[in-house]
Amino acid sequence: MKNEYIPHLAEIVSVRKETHDTKTYRLVFRDSGLAGSFDYKQGQFVQVSVLGVGEAPISITSSPSRKGFLELTLRAAGRVTSAICRLHTGDSVYIRGPYGNFFPFKELKGRDILFIAGGIGLAPVRSLINLVFDNRDAFGHITILYGAKTPQEICFKNELIKWEGIRDTSVFTTVDKPDGTWKGHTGVVTSLYDKANINSKNSTAVLCGPPVMIKFAAKELLQRGFCRPDIIVTLERYMKCGIGKCGHCNIGGLYVCTDGPVFTWDQVVRFPENEHVF
Ligand SMILES: Cc1cc2nc3c(=O)[nH]c(=O)nc-3n(C[C@H](O)[C@H](O)[C@H](O)COP(=O)(O)OP(=O)(O)OC[C@H]3O[C@@H](n4cnc5c(N)ncnc54)[C@H](O)[C@@H]3O)c2cc1C
Ligand code: FES
Repeated sequence: MKNEYIPHLAEIVSVRKETHDTKTYRLVFRDSGLAGSFDYKQGQFVQVSVLGVGEAPISITSSPSRKGFLELTLRAAGRVTSAICRLHTGDSVYIRGPYGNFFPFKELKGRDILFIAGGIGLAPVRSLINLVFDNRDAFGHITILYGAKTPQEICFKNELIKWEGIRDTSVFTTVDKPDGTWKGHTGVVTSLYDKANINSKNSTAVLCGPPVMIKFAAKELLQRGFCRPDIIVTLERYMKCGIGKCGHCNIGGLYVCTDGPVFTWDQVVRFPENEHVF
């Protein structure tokens, strides 16, 4: 019988510094059973472990359309993520997964897509963004609204510039606290809605970021005519097993690790209030 908890060895083949505490790792599997490949879907996560330290759930940030490697973006938040952020090219980590549900893709074809992300929340959404761009003709207008606390905390800087150059795409970046060098927009991400001319017609919104950002971003989308099923969010919750066995990630009758991490706003409004998700 397959043991779900046995991880695969993956080698770090490149490291890109995003901010002072956040890095993006490209991994290649060295496990003979995987022979370099690892199939996953946009929005899924993996459990990443470092021997002797522990394991943490991390979203897959690469697009499934780009084969042969896996990318993860980590912020050094605690024991495991800090240990991984000390690793270099040539070092290895252990991976199990992929786990969880995923962002819709076929269902979004023909629609405009509005991506709203805050901070490191751009990481899971980036998987879908690049999948959409690798199938550009199948979608309508793409709008990306991205907010960071300061200009130094903007992740995927080069990619934000690259996406802006793709046809029929609008990218807006904002920061909460500008510095002397910042020439862009200042304010919370919802302050970009008018500038971006947000329109609910034939649109789906995909959100990821701090709970407070998601709460207000979704609330204002509803006021602007978005229907609850057309607002999709991906959530974080404290996790242990990642496979629906331990109950740590439970919200009401759902497990975030298996029923999520991707939910529609229609599901979110039914979460019990005492779970304090937002
Ligand atoms: C589906 C999913 C996807 C994720 N994707 C990413 C990602 O792409 N990149 C990324 O950097 N992070 C991601 N995270 C968050 C990451 O898994 C957590 O921050 C994780 O706790 C980090 O592990 P750690 O050992 O480094 O930190 P920990 O030592 O676990 O500490 C991290 C923080 O969690 C708090 N914490 C610890 N235990 C508990 C507890 N029992 N209840 C509540 N809070 C607690 C600590 O106080 C601390 O603030 C994701 C989480 C989920 C569920
Ligand atoms: S993390 Fe164990 S049930 Fe979800």
